[in-house]
Amino acid sequence: MCSHGGGRSPLVPSSTQQKMPDSSVWVLAPALTLALVLALVLALPSTGEQHLEEAERIMSTTPVIDGHNDLPWQLLWKFNNQLRLPAANLTLLNDTHTNIPKLRQGHVGGQMVVEEMNRLGMMVDLAHVSVDTMKVVLNISKAPVIFSHSSAYSLCQHRRNVPDDVLQLVASTGSLVMVNFYNAYVTCSDKATLSDVADHMDHVKKVAGAQAVGFGGDYDGVPGVPAGLEDVSKYPALVAELLARNWTEREVKGALAENLLRVFSRVEEVKRSLQGTAAHETPIAFEELQGPCRTRYGYPNGAGTARRPPAALALPLALALLLSVLS
Ligand SMILES: *[C@@H]1O[C@H](CO)[C@@H](O)[C@H](O)[C@H]1NC(C)=O
Ligand SMILES: *[C@@H]1O[C@H](CO)[C@@H](O)[C@H](O)[C@H]1NC(C)=O
Ligand SMILES: *[C@@H]1O[C@H](CO)[C@@H](O)[C@H](O)[C@H]1NC(C)=O
Ligand SMILES: *[C@@H]1O[C@H](CO)[C@@H](O)[C@H](O)[C@H]1NC(C)=O
Repeated sequence: MCSHGGGRSPLVPSSTQQKMPDSSVWVLAPALTLALVLALVLALPSTGEQHLEEAERIMSTTPVIDGHNDLPWQLLWKFNNQLRLPAANLTLLNDTHTNIPKLRQGHVGGQMVVEEMNRLGMMVDLAHVSVDTMKVVLNISKAPVIFSHSSAYSLCQHRRNVPDDVLQLVASTGSLVMVNFYNAYVTCSDKATLSDVADHMDHVKKVAGAQAVGFGGDYDGVPGVPAGLEDVSKYPALVAELLARNWTEREVKGALAENLLRVFSRVEEVKRSLQGTAAHETPIAFEELQGPCRTRYGYPNGAGTARRPPAALALPLALALLLSVLS
């Protein structure tokens, strides 16, 4: 009915054409109202902010337990582990992904925990093994296993990531994939965003179920982390993104910590059920770690192995335990 642009509305007599501004006001009124409503909506917290608040609320009771953080390696590298040096103050440290204020801001309940479990040989970590080894171990392990910092192979064909057929074994064994944030594993390039990481979490959820998803940031162990996930203070932003993607509170809590705790208690149960079984205590020579079971994926020139003997040792320790766990 109303002519917005022509200025020749049949409802407006030509003698009042110079009053068009007045009639335009009426014509525009609904649009103005709409604009005002929009402005009011924008002044309210956006859905993004609401999700962030929701994330903070959830994480205040279920802080994240991340599968892999390399701060210990940074401390070794920077300070030769001399933690009494004034510069090694974990509150003031400012060129690492991890320090105490950032951990607090990120609602981090545990990192490195998993490595300690590995050291104690309590949980099998398949993050650094070949696909064949993943399959064999998932097939024979009595207890669920974890990938402490690996992402989805179908989204980025990096051999540190977990292929879909292995994700199905992860699902059938109640195991866990703690998604790595390293740009090179997320997008197979040197740039990535928080949303790309959420895509990996969505994918693991789609193929293996929400109970198979965890966080395995790899902070302080990698040179490039995604925009939006710059350091350990940013976990709540990723949780907000999962909420925005309609993850339920239960699924989010699972990914934050409860899935890992479930695997851990299952591992303990299996351990208890095998109390009478004799231990395999033959050590594995360090040189043997270069065998075909261990990947060099992601570590050109084998630099990763030379750089991180403790992580390299975690696997044989875990495998040694696994062997003792087999009937
Ligand atoms: C580390 O720095 C904080 C903040 O300046 C200070 O309160 C704390 O005493 C320092 N810790 C050590 C062990 O020096
Ligand atoms: C970072 O920490 C070092 C050592 O504590 C300090 O000398 C430096 O001024 C700090 N830099 C910033 C930007 O806070
Ligand atoms: C392990 O592999 C064998 C041989 O392929 C298969 O028969 C068996 O069902 C597998 N077990 C599990 C737990 O997947
Ligand atoms: C989340 O759920 C809402 C309401 O059911 C729906 O409109 C929206 O498209 C969903 N978002 C995603 C990313 O699935």
